[in-house]
Amino acid sequence: MTFPATRLRRLRAHPTLRRMVRETQLSPADFIYPLFVTHGRDVHEEIPSMPGVFHLSIDQLTAEANELAELEIPAVVLFGLPATKDAMGSENFATNGIVQQAIRTLKDAQPDLMVMTDVCMCEYTDHGHCGIVRDGQVLNDATLDVLQKVVVSHAAAGADVVAPSGMMDGMVGAIRAALDGDNFSNVSILSYAVKYASSFYGPFRDAAQSPPQFGDRHSYQMDPANVREALREAELDVAEGADMLMVKPALAYLDVVRRVRDTFNLPLAAYNVSGEYSMVKAAAARGWIDEQKVVLESLMGIKRAGADLILTYHAKDAARWLHLANG
Ligand code: PBG
Repeated sequence: MTFPATRLRRLRAHPTLRRMVRETQLSPADFIYPLFVTHGRDVHEEIPSMPGVFHLSIDQLTAEANELAELEIPAVVLFGLPATKDAMGSENFATNGIVQQAIRTLKDAQPDLMVMTDVCMCEYTDHGHCGIVRDGQVLNDATLDVLQKVVVSHAAAGADVVAPSGMMDGMVGAIRAALDGDNFSNVSILSYAVKYASSFYGPFRDAAQSPPQFGDRHSYQMDPANVREALREAELDVAEGADMLMVKPALAYLDVVRRVRDTFNLPLAAYNVSGEYSMVKAAAARGWIDEQKVVLESLMGIKRAGADLILTYHAKDAARWLHLANG
């Protein structure tokens, strides 16, 4: 049957009917909110390239956790700014490191908030690379030993999920072994399995003060041209014991989200990264786009492409808008 018997506009005629036949639902329960935690007191400092995103000191986190609970956002992912950086990123696995303190504070305030931690070395190392560096090379296997210490310290502080983002080979297996060896078999791994060497991370490197001091990340993060390789990355992480997978960034890689969704049965997250956020904020500030509509449309697109979970700096605003729309 074709026109005039078939008219697709019929199902678009009434808002209630449109809602009834909507194929994808977006909800605050889909969101994971990134937090940047820093030493000091009363720090609530806006990151210049990411309006609406703040560096927070530990004393700010109880209020933050309560606000997230109010908005029904179920999870955070933590990034830490250490007091000092060194060659191996020692504060990354210190019992009283900034992230370890943040985990304890957030879990005390809201035990049902899922606290996830970004597990990487770049914020903690003086050279800004995601691994141990020797003779200008980022060493793979030596880095795994450090990541093992990091995840055990995060788990001991009470993290629910660890999210390794350094793109080292074997990182998921090494982390699983370390957690299980220390009686943390209940701590989940959300692997940044498919992470591209992307220019969309620009504003984050301000936020986390983590740009590489020499060279770039192309020897460990993926070439944006590749999707078969993305499936190999995901396949290995599944074999090594990942509980959930991630594709990052999100918007320029929705085809990758779809391929990973169709190939694997693990829960899938997509990271709507800093550059994606800042471009929307900049255009909205000039009145060139409608921020609310563009954000909700983008997040819906990521969901429709196959992501179950979305890491996004828009989480709190989007949750507010969704609550208002749904009464
Ligand atoms: C680093 C890490 C990065 C991001 C998350 N974890 C930066 C990088 O790999 O250079 C980027 C997040 C964003 O841009 O929002 N381990």
